[in-house]
Amino acid sequence: MSDHSQSILIIDFGSQVTQLIARRVREAGVYCEIHPFNNVDGAYEALKPEAIILSGGPASVVDENAPSVPDFVWESGVPVLGICYGQQAMCQALGGRVEPGDEEGREFGRATVEVKKAGPLLENVWTEAGHYPVWMSHGDRVTALPEGFEVIATSTGAPFAMIANEDKRYYGTQFHLEVAHTPDGAALISNFVHKIAGCAGDWTMAAYRDHAIEKIREQVGDGKVICGLSGGVDSSVAAVLIHEAIGDQLTCIFVDHGLMRMNEADEVISLFREHYNIPLVHADAQDLFLGKLEGVSDPETKRKIIGGLFIEVFEAEANKIGGAQFLAQGTLYPDVIESVSFTGGPSVTIKSHHNVGGLPERMNMALVEPLRELFKDEVRALGRELGLPESFVGRHPFPGPGLAIRCPGGVSRDKLEILRKADAIYLDEIRKAGLYDKIWQAFAVLLPVQTVGVMGDGRTYEFVCALRAVTSVDGMTADFYPYEMDFLGKAATRIINEVKGINRVVYDVTSKPPGTIEWE
Ligand code: XMP
Repeated sequence: MSDHSQSILIIDFGSQVTQLIARRVREAGVYCEIHPFNNVDGAYEALKPEAIILSGGPASVVDENAPSVPDFVWESGVPVLGICYGQQAMCQALGGRVEPGDEEGREFGRATVEVKKAGPLLENVWTEAGHYPVWMSHGDRVTALPEGFEVIATSTGAPFAMIANEDKRYYGTQFHLEVAHTPDGAALISNFVHKIAGCAGDWTMAAYRDHAIEKIREQVGDGKVICGLSGGVDSSVAAVLIHEAIGDQLTCIFVDHGLMRMNEADEVISLFREHYNIPLVHADAQDLFLGKLEGVSDPETKRKIIGGLFIEVFEAEANKIGGAQFLAQGTLYPDVIESVSFTGGPSVTIKSHHNVGGLPERMNMALVEPLRELFKDEVRALGRELGLPESFVGRHPFPGPGLAIRCPGGVSRDKLEILRKADAIYLDEIRKAGLYDKIWQAFAVLLPVQTVGVMGDGRTYEFVCALRAVTSVDGMTADFYPYEMDFLGKAATRIINEVKGINRVVYDVTSKPPGTIEWE
């Protein structure tokens, strides 16, 4: 049973931008879930949605074995909005005709639609005879409408750019409503969920917090939960939320691998122990991690050592606590969708990410994942709702293996100390310049290269520090941040003057791809 009182079900046909549909629906204050077309019946039963949205997708409905819309959609009696492939699949299912696009009919990119008929979907957004920019991306197109449908907008390449059957409350758009390139798309989706589906739009973070707390209590009962804290946003928000639900039945474990940034370990400990009064085990394993990393310079070997030791230390501490049946994790919605997506995830391992995957089976524990339904920015909003300080909630992501992968080659205590100082100065300058929130991630890297310099009258032979800053939406692709030269000059001068061991600073202007965000 779903306990979100009103909701929208999004059926995924494999579009790259299906998640954006969910973003738009939630921005309109309505809870929604995405489920793949071939495994959605159970979700429909559980959710009892007010309406259904059919996503776009890479297939062609004219192909044999093309994904089709499950029958329950048409039997349910709820409003349906089909986007791109979703519109074509709707027409195919209801007796219209779809044909492969010829040279003329294909449309990719910006297009203009002309509104032919006003109606509830367009109310207060588009008016009859108006022309509006939209984003098209389709090869096939609808050439004959199913019975009961009419055209509400056209474009040069798509005479059926937008269609409706007002009686049944079925709508289709050939263009993508959910992308930013369709400037009025969010308002149209908002009309669909409010005016057509009748949702109140009262899904807020405060409501989510209450819902999540109730769910945690129900799942855990009077059991014990342990939660690994990393100092990052996700695990911090999960821990505070669970603590609010079950109090001291929660114990947090902070595995201190000695690879954190300046003062970071102390901040985590004082926030959780002193401010929130959450039972916290500080597993100081610095010597163990740094000892095992000594003399190791291969990036994958470093990652594997850190990942393996983390599990070992965590498990030992959890066993000491004893009697915990539940393991809490800060899994987010994009990870959940990725793992159920019928299109599958990335196939090549570029870097083995360090996380606690595998731990629950190994330790025979059930998972508590209170953020499973949220996107990253929603987790931040929930963190604010829970009163977490802005400095925690707005943090740049930090990788599990920490500074070890920002010291290319061998890692040593001395190098880590130099890197910490340079990184702290760099971030201080970024904050002072008001740039922190404009950047996805910014950090210093200590290169295993020494260069000759001159300071005062003397010769120096010290390390090179590289500065990195990128903008990104999800970490999957990224652009380097285009600083003003003055800013870079100032940061470099401060680092060289204040950090003994560095005599040269360079700026990394590589995007991802072809680079990755981290250097290892
Ligand atoms: P890359 O370097 O692959 O990083 O472009 C993409 C994003 O992932 C972060 N990252 C990690 N996060 N464990 C994590 O939790 C890891 O092992 C790890 N490696 C990279 C990186 O900081 C960036 O945000």
